[in-house]
Formats: sequence, structure tokens, C-alpha cells
Amino acid sequence: MDKHSINMGLIGFGTIGTGVVKLINANKDLIEKKVGKNINLKKIVDLDIETPRGVEVDSKKLSTNVNDVLEDEEISIVIELIGGYQPALDFILKALKKGKHVVTANKALLAKHWEEIIATAQENKVRIAFEASVGGGIPLLESLNESLAANHIQSIYGIINGTANYILTKMTQNGLDFNLALKQAQEKGYAEQDPSFDVEGYDTAQKLIILTLLGFGEYIEQNKFHVEGISHITPEDIIFTLKELGYVIKLLGIARKIEDQLEVRVHPTLIPQEHLLASVNGVFNGIYLEGDAVGPVMMYGQGAGSMPTASAVLGDCINIISNPQKEMIYGPPKPALSSLKNMDQILSKYYIRLKALDSPGVLHSISGILSEHDISIESVSQRKKSNGLGVPIFMVTHKALEKDLIQALTKIDELEEILEKSVLIRILET
Ligand code: HSE
Repeated sequence: MDKHSINMGLIGFGTIGTGVVKLINANKDLIEKKVGKNINLKKIVDLDIETPRGVEVDSKKLSTNVNDVLEDEEISIVIELIGGYQPALDFILKALKKGKHVVTANKALLAKHWEEIIATAQENKVRIAFEASVGGGIPLLESLNESLAANHIQSIYGIINGTANYILTKMTQNGLDFNLALKQAQEKGYAEQDPSFDVEGYDTAQKLIILTLLGFGEYIEQNKFHVEGISHITPEDIIFTLKELGYVIKLLGIARKIEDQLEVRVHPTLIPQEHLLASVNGVFNGIYLEGDAVGPVMMYGQGAGSMPTASAVLGDCINIISNPQKEMIYGPPKPALSSLKNMDQILSKYYIRLKALDSPGVLHSISGILSEHDISIESVSQRKKSNGLGVPIFMVTHKALEKDLIQALTKIDELEEILEKSVLIRILET
């Protein structure tokens, strides 16, 4: 191998893998000019090498045997794009132990096996890069890692799941209910047949773990923080909060430092209409963060898809080729801070929706329970009876402790006049 050539091996010739091959085909000259070396995608491994991908590729490069990449001494960068936990973990660890740099988009694997993967890369003095794992093509992780590294990061608020954002956007702009909006997302190929991973917040949670690592240097496992999805959000909530209160509902991943305590959580959040995050619509992602020197920074772009994600994958390859010895700025893995705030200790404003019998004294009972729990009401609105099944009551609280609010709502839900379980949505105040 001549020293002016870099050989790369690709494991996984699916949607993103195909994008990587397309992008190399299209922009090889540009990339080579930038890195000052020839780049060669030497092998492409997949279990299926027969199905046409609609991209020009030399058939001699295709293989079904992963060792054609992992055992090839000439390949110095392995791109892992098969996703999932196994065999991806074995492939990545083997590549690192063989002294190969690894580029991956595998957020699930990084979120779960972070410590082992980073330690293995460090022991073997090679790099692991994963820009594509959060926010697709948005240059987010390297920005946190480099350009923003002089800052104490104070907060990160991310709309980092395009499927959930598409569904909420359709519900908001077209008045659809959750199931209809989900069906449209599935027809467009954004949502899986089993959409729970995206709509119940788990995908956002995995990405938030990676953002928390890069922003705050802390590894917080998924079972340590609150994860709530969007499937219980109704058009009633969306219409009222938008028309009467001026809020837009988004599924947010939040990581922030409040008085030396770290808050990490995923849940639907009401965002003031004029906030930049409120205009991140459809499948787009948006990340708003604050650093002590830089102040607020907003990043916006395509968080998924073949070519945007391929852009991040090849960006990582270029970064490694330009600086193969770079130390990882996020340092050795650290256990979670003991100061991770419990969810019941967070302070927030809340929107509450109740369904109650329209009888004398109901509001009095509700406000009595709220005041017993130190919760102050900012506004209340009761709507006319629609079909004899009770009336909706919409409330907004001043800032309250989550623990107090949950206790109060449990008591309110037990009142005879309350016909359905209450709904609460947290309100963002940045
Ligand atoms: N399923 C993810 C989303 C894309 O909807 O944003 C991959 O991370």
C-alpha cells in the first residue's frame, strides 16, 4: 500500500451504506484534494450483495465475509453501518483491537456499550468517530467536541427524532390525530411498522446519552432518566396550547446543568411559538444549546436519510485521515454523577388537561388540592360541554416541583367528578 492511499472497508450496504458509496463516487476528487491522499473503498461487506442498490460499484469489492474487512491489513478505517447490538459490537471491537479506526452511526450500541468501546479505542490508540449517530448530517458532535470545547455547556435541547417531529408537525398543521399522523409517517417510509422506538422516545434517549457525554462528560445510562413519548398527545392539547397559550408541542431531549446538578430527560414539551426550536418542522432535527462563553447556538438540518447521514460518515473519515492521532477530548469514561437530578425534583411550569363533570364545586376541589401541594395556578379555562361526557378543563401552573404536581394530580384523578386520567405536559422555559 502506498503511503498516499487510504483504504477503507464498509460493513453494511443498506440505506446509509449506499449513500456512502454514492457520495464517494460523486465527490472523490474533492475529498482527495482536501485530505491530500487517495481514498479507496476497498471492500463492501453485506449478507445481501445481490440486490441492486442503484449505485455504481465494482463487483470485485463486494463480499459476504466480514473478515475481508476486519482481517485486511491494508484497511485502516472500518465504517460500521449495520446497526443494532450484535454482531455490530463484535465487529467494532475486533476492528479497534486490530488497530483500525472505526466510523459508525450506531447510536444504540454507543449508548449501551460506550465504556467498553471507548476504552478499547483508547487502549489500541485508534479513533472511534460517530458524528452520524446523532442528528444525521448536522455537524453537531464535532462542534461540541472541538469548536465549543472552551465552553462549559449549560444546556442542550434537542429535537432529534425526525419521525416523532413529523407526526407532531402533521398533528399541529393538519389537525390530524396521533394514529392518522403515524399512518402518514409510515406511508412515507419515515416510521417503522413497529413505531414505538421513535414515538415512545427511546431513539431520542439514546441520542441524548451521546449528547450528554459530549456536552457534560457524563455517561448516564438510559434506565437512570425519564423517557416519555408522544402517543398520548391529542389534537385537543395541540389546538388549545397553540391557539390559547401560544405554545408548540415538540418531543425534546433535554440535558442541562442547574446549580451543579445535571437534568437529563426526554418528554413532549411545550415551547413558546417564537422560540427557534418551535419552527423545526417535519422530519428535520434542531438542537439548541447554550455555552457559558458562546451563549445560545442553534443547529438545524436533516437528522436521517441516506445522503445526509453519509455526509457525516465521510466527514468522520476525512477527520480521521487528517488527524489519526487525535486524542478524544471527552476523555476516559466516567461513571454517572451522583448529582443527577431525580425527575421528581425538577422545577417546571405545567399544562394540565382534565375531564370533569360540569357540577358545582369541581373547580374548587381541584384548586384546593393544588394549593395543598404548593402549586400555584397561572390560568384556568373550562370549555363548554361537547357531548354530555363531561367538560375539558385546561390549566397552566406557575413553576412547581414535579413531585408536588404528581402527588396533586394523583389525588385529583381520584375525585369522583374526574372522568379521565389527567394529562400533563411540561412547559419549556429557557
Ligand atoms: N429513526 C430516526 C428518526 C432516524 O426518525 O429520526 C435515525 O436516527
